[in-house]
Amino acid sequence: MRILVLGSGAREHAIVTALLREDAGHHIIAAPGNAGLAHDVEVVSLDATNGKVVTEYALENDIELVVVGPEAPLVAGVADVLRSHSIPVFGPGKRAAALEGSKTFAKRIMDEARVPTGRAVRAGTLQEATASLDEFGAPYVVKADGLAAGKGVLVTDSRDAALEHATYWLQHGSVLIEEFLEGQEVSLFLLSDGHTVMPLSPAQDFKRLGDGDTGPNTGGMGAYSPLPWLADRFGSEADFVEEVIETIALPTVRQLAKEDTPFIGLLYAGLILTEQGIRVIEFNARFGDPETQVVLPRLRTPLSELLLASANGSLSSHAAPEFSPEVAVTVVLASEGYPEAPLTGREITGLDEALSVPGVTIAHAATARLDGRLVATGGRVLSVVATGDSFAEARSRAYEALGAIELEGARYRHDIAEKVAR
Ligand code: AMP
Ligand code: GLY
Repeated sequence: MRILVLGSGAREHAIVTALLREDAGHHIIAAPGNAGLAHDVEVVSLDATNGKVVTEYALENDIELVVVGPEAPLVAGVADVLRSHSIPVFGPGKRAAALEGSKTFAKRIMDEARVPTGRAVRAGTLQEATASLDEFGAPYVVKADGLAAGKGVLVTDSRDAALEHATYWLQHGSVLIEEFLEGQEVSLFLLSDGHTVMPLSPAQDFKRLGDGDTGPNTGGMGAYSPLPWLADRFGSEADFVEEVIETIALPTVRQLAKEDTPFIGLLYAGLILTEQGIRVIEFNARFGDPETQVVLPRLRTPLSELLLASANGSLSSHAAPEFSPEVAVTVVLASEGYPEAPLTGREITGLDEALSVPGVTIAHAATARLDGRLVATGGRVLSVVATGDSFAEARSRAYEALGAIELEGARYRHDIAEKVAR
């Protein structure tokens, strides 16, 4: 199949790696890609957020499936333009992508579909925000309503910090003040063809910058899959997944279909397991990063078949995906200064040595080739991914590989999957 993958992060590199692993002779093109993608497949420099440009390229190059990686092209309506030209596309149209692009829209859909989520109030002014913060009390949860590249959410005990965050984001639109929810977090990916859903294996993301969940929220500093502890609480992982499908994913997809905004693509359910039950913290309209890096290496079913069945509306006739019993751990290497002001342009070395560790792959994110050298071009530079028979094995492989990589000033978390490796 001729497949165009839009995006330039580690998520897209992990998607491409999974497609190549099928060994099905796919011709894959990534746009705009990064140095890792350029090493593995053809890359073209396209403005991935411009529906017209992407559609023209897809038509001229006989593309049979477009996979949209990041949220920006979805929210910009790229999938709508492609679909209007009958090009199969994995990724929701603009209106359904508002599930991620607008927290107010997501809350309304969840309300209508009776999906359990935290109580929240939308505030358009500082006065409204202050009143809601005082009503909910500490810890305070303040969220930017629109896309914020992982920087929109603040959870804090400080009323002043909450007000400052609200003040900042009110310049860009409204904010949501939400009830604080406590519990383990789970990311569950569900493929959807607009009517039905098909779950992948659950993963856990580490959102804070520092060890022990300290420091600011980031796009995600590491992840692991599967989650062995789900069985303690739900009987089995399958029972947990079934509950999410019945109470969260299907009601949401059905509500969107009812409103004539079918969700075709990846429904990312960001969940928190409170004592009162499972609650949605957020929906995303695309694969999560870095969770994709630990879910797809375990997938045994050909990914292209699942993506195409979603795009074509034939998911219900496809068998459930199978996963390897191996576990996977990923640790993100980030540039100095991330997330506030990452320093870029520095050389990265040692990747060959890192790749010689058994079970290790590297998903590139912000990397480029400059005069033959590999350099970092952004905050999250790459994800080291390791599989193994146990979390202890996968972790030690991931950290051994990280030890071989050099990037001045870079940082990573040391405690990814530590609790499950004991
Ligand atoms: P989000 O971008 O909405 O996923 O939020 C980023 C992170 O903030 C989540 O992964 C949680 O760790 C935290 N968070 C978001 N909403 C809440 C909430 N209502 N209560 C507690 N923590 C939250
Ligand atoms: N890892 C969180 C996200 O992809 O939004």
